Amino acid sequence: MRTQVAIIGAGPSGLLLGQLLTNAGIDNVILERQTGDYVRGRIRAGVLEEGMVGMLDEAGVGARMNRQGLPHDGFDLAFGWRHHRIDLHALTGKRVMVYGQTEVTRDLMDKRAETGGVTIYEAGNVEPHDFGSQPFITYEKDGVSHRLDCDFIAGCDGYHGASRKAVEGKGLETFERVYPFGWLGIVADVPPVHHELIYANHPRGFALCSMRSTTRSRYYVQCPLDDKVEAWSDDRFWDELRRRLPPDSANRVTTGPSIEKSIAPLRSFVAEPMRFGRLLLVGDAAHIVPPTGAKGLNLAASDVRYLFDGLREYYGEKSDAGLDAYSQKALSRVWKAERFSWWMTSTMHRFPDTGAFGQRIQEAELDYLVHSQAASTSLAENYVGLPY
Ligand code: APR
Ligand code: PHB
Repeated sequence: MRTQVAIIGAGPSGLLLGQLLTNAGIDNVILERQTGDYVRGRIRAGVLEEGMVGMLDEAGVGARMNRQGLPHDGFDLAFGWRHHRIDLHALTGKRVMVYGQTEVTRDLMDKRAETGGVTIYEAGNVEPHDFGSQPFITYEKDGVSHRLDCDFIAGCDGYHGASRKAVEGKGLETFERVYPFGWLGIVADVPPVHHELIYANHPRGFALCSMRSTTRSRYYVQCPLDDKVEAWSDDRFWDELRRRLPPDSANRVTTGPSIEKSIAPLRSFVAEPMRFGRLLLVGDAAHIVPPTGAKGLNLAASDVRYLFDGLREYYGEKSDAGLDAYSQKALSRVWKAERFSWWMTSTMHRFPDTGAFGQRIQEAELDYLVHSQAASTSLAENYVGLPY
């Protein structure tokens, strides 16, 4: 089999890139190791920057998001028992869209099926080869070995994928910081405590009040890295969440049975460069951010923007300029989002060495920020997303 662009991974990166390529008449095939149902069922992030919203509209998959998504003009920082609103729209003229990644994936998968995009699910032992000049991918399906020849390989296979592994020891340089805590997250069919998100700094640890709709809430509390989800009954979760919120919002929390509960580790990670000949790394395959700044999905989108523009230029104008600039351009935005996500994580969470002094310093930084137009604007422009 042959295609122009072989995409490894049917997550948001692979599906968004695939749809833009299909719409542009550039042939592509996605190889995904999981089943379609598994991919469709993943619960992940939920805040879209305007750049991502624009790309979903450009890909022709924005209709349901524009109907059901929740535009948010701001969010609250809670610390020292008080709430402080960050007015994103007043500070930047931009807003964010609250719309679950699960829904984004569903919209992209439905569009791909509708437009005849080829996705090979349950593809085993996917392996990129010879991405210097004549790239190809080998994989197994139903016990049969296959080869897919292509012009380019887009490694959209996430942090644990095969693409980055294929270039380890071939000039790849990685940068990583693992955080000494995790996030215990739940989804519950209860109305959100507030119409916007609340990021809470508390001596007991960080908490986040988010949502998927006006009837489905998403909450997180910081927990020890070695904590076990089995140790957290729903009642224990709700009690801990309310202890970390200012009293007025704690008393407004609607509790109910969790429909999903899990613990995720937090890390900052970047792999450089993001291009190896005709293999290009995209999204989580190349970088990971702690979810505090809601940047993971949005960085995948900006990578896809740069790569799609480069591929369209290659096939349309026979120019390599966009592809040659891909890694540097993507990494420039990635590192700024890494810095913001690291800063927000460092300021909002309780570290083993934070102590009483460190807690006061965090609260002083937040108190300065919410009373400074300059500092609030800096936070807001990073949160809504820096320009592509
Ligand atoms: N072969 C084929 N597919 C693979 C392989 C492999 N060896 N390894 C991983 N995959 C698939 C995974 O099953 C998954 O569907 O690649 C996809 C990678 O998707 P994501 O991990 O979601 O990465 P990405 O598409 O870049 O999206 C980034 O997803 O993880 C969140 O927080 C992250 O919001 C961000 C977004
Ligand atoms: C979520 O809704 O899952 C979410 C929102 C904002 C974040 C992280 C996660 O910063």
